[in-house]
Amino acid sequence: MRSALLIAAAIVGLLSAGCDNLSERRVKEAAVLTNGGDARVGRVEIRKYGCNACHEISGVPGARGLIGPPLTNINQRYYIAGEIANTPNNLMSWIQHPHQIEPHTLMPDMGVSEQDSRDIAAYLYAQ
Ligand code: HEC
Repeated sequence: MRSALLIAAAIVGLLSAGCDNLSERRVKEAAVLTNGGDARVGRVEIRKYGCNACHEISGVPGARGLIGPPLTNINQRYYIAGEIANTPNNLMSWIQHPHQIEPHTLMPDMGVSEQDSRDIAAYLYAQ
């Protein structure tokens, strides 16, 4: 009976690890890239701010928004929003103040704090 419980616990552990799209290596690389951003926290922040309402974001449950572009393969892009070079600082600036970069963009300024933008940028680079 006890061993059956242990096996069940191991299976649940494996399944939940499988649901996490973030590899340890990508999380660490993203932390270095963003100067301390935490991708796992970023994934939670993305839902807190409601980015998922407008964007499709892989690994974020329910993120199937079609108003903005899909936020996939961000780490392979040259530009952000067709406006600025894709660097960690620029991505953080865009997430915090898109209207300062492109005054007519449909993406709203959502009052994202600097630390939250760092964590969200880490997630977007790590996914
Ligand atoms: C009301 C809809 C809306 C919400 C909410 C929203 N965005 Fe956007 N986002 C857009 C639109 C529209 C664009 C395209 C902007 C442009 O090119 O002018 C965009 C562009 C972007 C881009 C650039 C994508 C690219 O292909 O270069 C990133 C990154 C981004 N958003 C991240 C976020 C994050 C992170 C959040 C949450 C903090 C968020 N967005 C919330 C509508 C939204």
